[in-house]
Amino acid sequence: MGAGRRLLLSLSPERRRCAAVIGLMAASALGEMAVPYYMGRASDWVAREDELAAILPMVLLGLSSAVTELVCDVTFVGILSRTQSRLQRRVFAAVLRQDIAELRTDGAGDVATRVTRDAEDVREALGEALSLLLWYLARGVCLFATMAWLSPRMALLTALALPLLLALPRAVGHFQQALAPQMQKAQAQASEVAVETFQAMATVRSFANEDGAAAHYRQCLQQSHRLEMKDVALYTVSAWTSGFSALALKVGILYYGGRLVAAGTVSTGDLVTFLLYQMQFTDVVEVLLCYYPTLTKAVGSSEKIFEFLDREPQLTPSGTMAPSELQGHLQLEDVWFSYPGRQEPVLKGVSLELRPGKVLAVLGPPGGGKSTLVALVSRLHQPTAGRLLLDGHPLPTYQHSYLCRQVAVVPQEPLLFARSLHANISYGLGCCSRAQVTAAARQVGAHNFITRLPQGYDTEVGELGGQLSGGQRQAVAIARALLRDPRILILDEHSSALDTECQQQVEQEILAARGSGRAVLMVTGRAALAAQAQWVAVLEGGEVCQQGPPHEVLRPGSHTWHLLQDWGQQGAPGEGDRGSGGEG
Ligand SMILES: Nc1ncnc2c1ncn2[C@@H]1O[C@H](COP(=O)(O)OP(=O)(O)O)[C@@H](O)[C@H]1O
Ligand SMILES: [Mg+2]
Repeated sequence: MGAGRRLLLSLSPERRRCAAVIGLMAASALGEMAVPYYMGRASDWVAREDELAAILPMVLLGLSSAVTELVCDVTFVGILSRTQSRLQRRVFAAVLRQDIAELRTDGAGDVATRVTRDAEDVREALGEALSLLLWYLARGVCLFATMAWLSPRMALLTALALPLLLALPRAVGHFQQALAPQMQKAQAQASEVAVETFQAMATVRSFANEDGAAAHYRQCLQQSHRLEMKDVALYTVSAWTSGFSALALKVGILYYGGRLVAAGTVSTGDLVTFLLYQMQFTDVVEVLLCYYPTLTKAVGSSEKIFEFLDREPQLTPSGTMAPSELQGHLQLEDVWFSYPGRQEPVLKGVSLELRPGKVLAVLGPPGGGKSTLVALVSRLHQPTAGRLLLDGHPLPTYQHSYLCRQVAVVPQEPLLFARSLHANISYGLGCCSRAQVTAAARQVGAHNFITRLPQGYDTEVGELGGQLSGGQRQAVAIARALLRDPRILILDEHSSALDTECQQQVEQEILAARGSGRAVLMVTGRAALAAQAQWVAVLEGGEVCQQGPPHEVLRPGSHTWHLLQDWGQQGAPGEGDRGSGGEG
């Protein structure tokens, strides 16, 4: 279905109000056309000294037209505002259903533009174009009816010439419509570059790349500027073609009318009246044609929105299983995965088992696929082949919210929201008491630094948690995971930035898992940390190249021991823990 039709369909919940607006506009147009008629009559009535009869209709017409206009405007603005927020809500919901990897490819700026700018553009274009189009359409219909009543033949000639009048600007409008999405893309790219630069201000400055960033932004703006110039040129061409064709119609009617008068079919008076109405009519058509491109632009803007809404939701539908007792036995069976748009698989037949009450360390060099593995277990991506089982059932058979409560993940680069620490730790759990939040913070040794902050747990952490140190963010993220008291805890390089106090606390907490029956999957680049687990799996190049108890895997002379030497670490636990692989 074309974007234009879908745009009209998006107005369909408002169809009663739209019909009311059209009716009111038609009434208003009729009222306006009646004014010249009464003006003529009024002079007659004044001559007959019947002032009331002369003034009353005019006053009534003026009043009713003012009221009609007001009601019409209010209704119309309401329609637009509701349609815009409906579109925005739908796009926002569609974004939440998308595949994470694909969204990253699109870029947050581009996606945000869909939700805010494009929806606004559509509203603006619709508001401007549609209101005028409807108004002039109503006037055009009334005028044409009068013309047909005056002289059916000349009205027919006008009607026959109309398709020609419409065809030319339509062709130009077609190009404009194609240009609109390109312009949007260029603008979105520019805003994405700006947002990215501002977010990474510290990096830009420390690499003294202010000029480079500015040049990059300028390039994006230039592209946008080129497209805008093209758009303006097209607009001029379309305005010119419509003006020219309207003039051609006027001349044509004058010529044909003159011949009808010569033949005696039409009186001179009727020709003059007809021409007066016809001139108004061509004005109306001209305005309609002028606004046609604006409308096609609105259609163009909406195209990208609809394209986004049409994307298949990538989340596999949530299952229904939510058993009250969960063991926490996680199995990966021959799991393969490649990122969309990349051929080379990142995981190549990974098989692992995490048993309740045990700690499994996944050790590997940077780029080995550890974070990807975590993302698959968190169901951010679907494996290309293979299965992930929880207590023997595939992950997708479980309820989404149930899984998120039972399996808590601390990502490698945890992001916080621009809210208070309390809200961040209790994120997604609804209301949690301060005591619960404090207990979770104590578990990871974060309570001390939090109480030292000016507003304690009510301190706002700034955009993306930017007002905290990397280690503090990580500690808060671990507290957020622990507050759920999950059956399975997954930590991705959790100690890469933690200070010693937090690190010790977290390690204690991990080791305490044995008693509580919680299973812990600990991803790390550090051999010393892996040595504390009950089982170590070594992930290199997307494959598990060795697994077993730590004393075996990390034994001097083992395959992994040799690998660790290559990564710049030593196999023996406790020594060589330089954290060099910690930023994997
Ligand atoms: N979003 C992504 N899109 C495409 N490739 C990715 C993406 N994330 C990671 N990769 C690639 O997958 C490989 C494994 O990355 P990752 O799982 O982060 O490794 P690790 O956590 O072990 O350092 C790397 O080669 C990386 O380039
Ligand atoms: Mg990683």
